[in-house]
Amino acid sequence: MITLENLHKELSVGQLAARSGVAVTALHFYESKGLIRSNRNQGNQRRYPREVLRRVALIKVAQRLGIPLAEIGEALKALPDNRAPTAADWKDMSAQWGRDLDERINQLTLLRDKLNGCIGCGCLSMEACPLRNFGDVLGEQGPGAQLLESGIDPKMS
Ligand code: FES
Repeated sequence: MITLENLHKELSVGQLAARSGVAVTALHFYESKGLIRSNRNQGNQRRYPREVLRRVALIKVAQRLGIPLAEIGEALKALPDNRAPTAADWKDMSAQWGRDLDERINQLTLLRDKLNGCIGCGCLSMEACPLRNFGDVLGEQGPGAQLLESGIDPKMS
């Protein structure tokens, strides 16, 4: 039921798009993934509580950090539906995402350093190219079956 109070508390999808700077199609996508929720008015139109504005802001910032939507959705699931994410919520999420970002920066730095060795080469060899076989950590420890030599059962690792 639309009351005067709800009229000021809830936003249409167009109003939410205008206020958040996010396209209507993206808002529908977020909703389909459970990141935001709407209510339906008597005309079966979506109406978003104002708290959704802050959720959308948080989603956009997290996306800018490269956090996958599924992960953002998991973090938002831990919050109650009926309130905006607080500063404390953001602090917890951003601390975790900051650690993830550090890890990705380290991985990208490693990739960039390996790329330097490939510039001007072009072999793309499975054996010789560190970018082609990037995850071969054991290979960097030497040739052969490293796990068998170390006594670690490869099926258990
Ligand atoms: S392209 Fe030759 S080592 Fe990577």
